[in-house]
Amino acid sequence: MPLPVPVPVLPEGIDPAWLPPEAFRPLGARRTRIRGSGPLVETVHGEVSDACRRFGGEVVRDDDGTAAPYDLVLCRTDGPEDLGDEGFACERSAGTTTVTASGPRGLLYGLFHVVRLGEDAFRGERPREVHRPAVALRMLDHWDNVAVHPVMGQVERGYAGGSLFWRDGRARGEPERVRAYGRLLAACGINAVSVNNVNVHATEARLLTDRLGEVADLAAALRPYGVRTHLSVTFAAPVVLGGLATADPLDASVRAWWADAAARVYAAIPDFGGFVVKADSEGQPGPFAYGRSHADGADALAAALAPHGGTVHWRAFVYDHRQDWRDRTTDRARAAYDHFAPLDGEFADNAVLQVKHGPMDFQVREPVSPVLGAMPRTRLAVEVQATQEYTGQQRHVCWLGPMWSEALRFRPGGDAGGCVGEVARGGLVAVSNVGDDPFWTGHPLAQANLYTFGRLAWRPDDDPRRILDEWIGLTFLSAPERLITGLRAVLHGSWRTYEKYTAPLGVGFMVQPGHHYGPSVDGYEYSPWGTYHFADRDGVGVDRSAATGTGYAAQYGKPWAEVYESPGSCPDELLLFFHHVPYEHVLHSGKTVIQHIYDSHFEGVEETEEALRVWEGLADLVAPARHARVAERYAEQLRSAREWRDQVNSYFLRKSGVPDERGRTVY
Ligand code: GCU
Repeated sequence: MPLPVPVPVLPEGIDPAWLPPEAFRPLGARRTRIRGSGPLVETVHGEVSDACRRFGGEVVRDDDGTAAPYDLVLCRTDGPEDLGDEGFACERSAGTTTVTASGPRGLLYGLFHVVRLGEDAFRGERPREVHRPAVALRMLDHWDNVAVHPVMGQVERGYAGGSLFWRDGRARGEPERVRAYGRLLAACGINAVSVNNVNVHATEARLLTDRLGEVADLAAALRPYGVRTHLSVTFAAPVVLGGLATADPLDASVRAWWADAAARVYAAIPDFGGFVVKADSEGQPGPFAYGRSHADGADALAAALAPHGGTVHWRAFVYDHRQDWRDRTTDRARAAYDHFAPLDGEFADNAVLQVKHGPMDFQVREPVSPVLGAMPRTRLAVEVQATQEYTGQQRHVCWLGPMWSEALRFRPGGDAGGCVGEVARGGLVAVSNVGDDPFWTGHPLAQANLYTFGRLAWRPDDDPRRILDEWIGLTFLSAPERLITGLRAVLHGSWRTYEKYTAPLGVGFMVQPGHHYGPSVDGYEYSPWGTYHFADRDGVGVDRSAATGTGYAAQYGKPWAEVYESPGSCPDELLLFFHHVPYEHVLHSGKTVIQHIYDSHFEGVEETEEALRVWEGLADLVAPARHARVAERYAEQLRSAREWRDQVNSYFLRKSGVPDERGRTVY
């Protein structure tokens, strides 16, 4: 009989997040029988043994011959119903709760389901319920550099300290901590991690070849929790690592090089997930240099991975970042669709096109990317950003569950078609917000974003508020009602609050160039990055209509092309993304655009002040270190929100000359 896999020991001072040991008490105080075998079954065994050791229960394996009644039976079997690799069924009758799974991950996910249920798992009768993930690949992309980058640091856009995996040019060699991370991920349903930055610099490139052993060590640490490892690779690898003269994806020697590289990866990591590629994007090499298409590029790597069951995740974040701001015809929002929609049907079966949820870059408000409605013959993955690059950088509270849920529920083809959560056959991916910070995510409340992502990836039509309650229930075990109400109050509306005090009505950016924190209304207005608002004395916004603008609105199918085409039907929150309108334009809300700008910015600050008051009132119910960390970040959030309010309001007062009708102070 294989030995149970021991539960990772959290290093001293590291927050248990949504897996506090006490959460295992209901399970650990009972008699459990585990049936079946397989590597992850040994992980389940380890979990139950650990809980029993703590709380006095007992666990037996199927062959031990005991006939005693069990409170819990965890059973991996080739059941009558195909639960797939990851699904499980849970029921309770005659005093026994039974979890059945046919795949090894299913039993692990079933175990965490029992943990979430707590004492309820062992009460009364429960009819059989089947749980299966709607999306097979639920992935986190770490933008972690192995070597500290002179501008981007250890983790690009990382706001939670250093990398969990790398430090100063090498692997940290802390497998126990990585395993603890894998455990947290499994407990919210995440099953894949890409361990290095999509911008692959020289040191990182070598992870594919002579430094592969470091990746294999990470894979070994993540494997017991069912998390597969992926690697970002550079398209130029055959040249920079292989010494070939070309990286042309149609060149036979290049294809042979990739095939060989993939074979070596699988020899070291048999369950390797695949490659992530950022090509021809923001200076990264790609197939354009050889006159080849993105499908040619993706398919070359897909062919190398195919014999081993791997997948290439090819990112659709391709646009001209050397644009002339004087040129009003080039529209960055159009770029992904223009590049990729014509290639629909040309991508290999094991190539996934990874599309950011919006057409720009993780702004607080964007429409859903039109690419998601335009490529029915391509496996698409949707990428969201848990690291809050443009949403407060884990210094501001900004729970992104409602934003992601809106995007996943959006129906690109109108009521008749599927929603984004269904279109994303290739997976759901989040840019990770985790680092070596003792709270994992810098801001303790940003843990809710990671948890919510995992659970939404499992079930994209789930109610984010239900997920948040689940997170609260686990993280703040046995929380009194006042704490639950307080946490809901500070988190539920936090995304909209952030939206209110930053760039208005979908226009986006207005951040400080480079690091992207804090306001700078014209920071990107005369830059090559293609991110403009075009404010003048008469109005503001980008005309993306087909009739008079860049034509972006026409990239949508029905009904959205019509809805977005005219300011009369365009939703208020996206008005300035799609249209350039006068300041006196009246929104559906009944307010003028200029008055909306003033009001929303005052409201955003007031809501932040109120959230801080609520948080202060919870001091007696939250562990001091956690409370203090959040309070300290709230002080910065409030300072920053006021800065945003005053800069944005003053800017628009000065441009428009229209005073605030309520006579508040605008500088
Ligand atoms: C944003 C971000 C970059 C990142 C890029 C990407 O532009 O600022 O740091 O590399 O997205 O998604 O590739």
